[in-house]
Amino acid sequence: MRIYRIRGGEPLKGKVDISGAKNAALPILAATILTDETITLENVPMVNDTLIMVETLRNLGATVDYIDDNTLSINTSTISKYRVDNPSIKKIRASYYFAGALLGRYRQARVPLPGGCNIGGRGLDMHEKGFKSLGAEVKITESEIIVDGTKNDLVGTRMYMDKVSVGATINIILASVLTPGKTIIEGAAKEPHVVDVANFINGIGGHITGAGTDKIRINGVPKLRGGSYAVIPDQIEAGTFMMAAAITHGDVVVNNVIPTHLDSISSKLREIGCKIEEADDWVRVIGPEGRLRRTQVKTLPYPGFPTDMQPQISVALGLADGCSTVVESIFDNRFMYVNELKKMGCNIVVDECTTAYIDGVEYYQGANMTSPDLRAGAALVLAALAAQGQSDIDGIEYIERGYENFDKKLRNLGADIQKLEV
Ligand code: UD1
Repeated sequence: MRIYRIRGGEPLKGKVDISGAKNAALPILAATILTDETITLENVPMVNDTLIMVETLRNLGATVDYIDDNTLSINTSTISKYRVDNPSIKKIRASYYFAGALLGRYRQARVPLPGGCNIGGRGLDMHEKGFKSLGAEVKITESEIIVDGTKNDLVGTRMYMDKVSVGATINIILASVLTPGKTIIEGAAKEPHVVDVANFINGIGGHITGAGTDKIRINGVPKLRGGSYAVIPDQIEAGTFMMAAAITHGDVVVNNVIPTHLDSISSKLREIGCKIEEADDWVRVIGPEGRLRRTQVKTLPYPGFPTDMQPQISVALGLADGCSTVVESIFDNRFMYVNELKKMGCNIVVDECTTAYIDGVEYYQGANMTSPDLRAGAALVLAALAAQGQSDIDGIEYIERGYENFDKKLRNLGADIQKLEV
């Protein structure tokens, strides 16, 4: 078993370079299926989820070469099957993007049901609705999503999303880029990674407008080209390091970011007593000398406060002066880390799985904890960095699904964190 062993108490100081966005890289990797020509993708984070996507592309018959750790050359013209069946794909949520991409390009796909973090019921009804609106038959069995667009011609259509879904919005884009006619998605997700997927596809000849608003229009084109593209910086990795600076009362320059993507996080950090400076591609977070201040947080679709930052800010508010509330409005089971955090002395109660009431304590005490999922695991690391004494955190394979060189980047900022085999 691999663990992080952390001795807390060091304020983080220095500069950290943010990697490419996992949640943009995953659908863009799937989107390479939409063209026969070679794609060079830069700024792809070397994390377990992207490695699984690459393994799956190869398993389908594509050629994927690593030019360096973060640059890939991909040619999918040799794809010879439409059924995704490598076992590791079941571990990740983004597997569903193969359904949209294979349907878009080859009009058929069979993909295992998505895995990923257990943070609540993660339905597929919006994906199903989108594929069906385009004319595909969709069957969701106990183990697979089966989509078939071979019986009827797929054709562009207008659809209304009943829930704001990042995954469904991107999947419908993937399925409709090569579909004749105009597809309109009303109620689309506006997250930066939705925009990044659209920018990538437009760069190789697609015709998508409105990405970043709640109405996206896709004019089907017959063919896409090859080309090069660099994935945007990871909003959540950046936010996590910003929160690490705040909770340890440190002073960290977070480099290679798009500051507007971080506005909701910067704004909350200001509210709780941090000083924020920003320029074109960096933000600096200076933690307060005294205790953090209490506040209220509600997670919302972009541009609201991201659900993927909810555990990290809750952990910070556990050390704030006064009572805070955190409302999780996206997922219905995203407080799995609370029992672990209580081991450190955090005063936190969760009501109906949606609202956390946190009465801040002066300090956390180091403890042995298990990471329940990706973002919660990162949050427990932040708590341990701020705690008195030593903490061991296992389940770090979750954290490594989404953070490139997490322990190394933290060490460079002065953290006492080791990755150990025990
Ligand atoms: C993606 C991100 C995840 C992030 C989330 C919200 C990836 C791989 N994962 O997850 O890190 O936390 O966006 O920003 O990019 N829903 C349905 N039916 C559907 C689709 C979604 O009910 O067909 C519900 C979900 O259960 C959830 C909400 O809608 O309650 C939002 O889900 P969605 O935006 O689709 O999240 P994911 O794509 O799973």
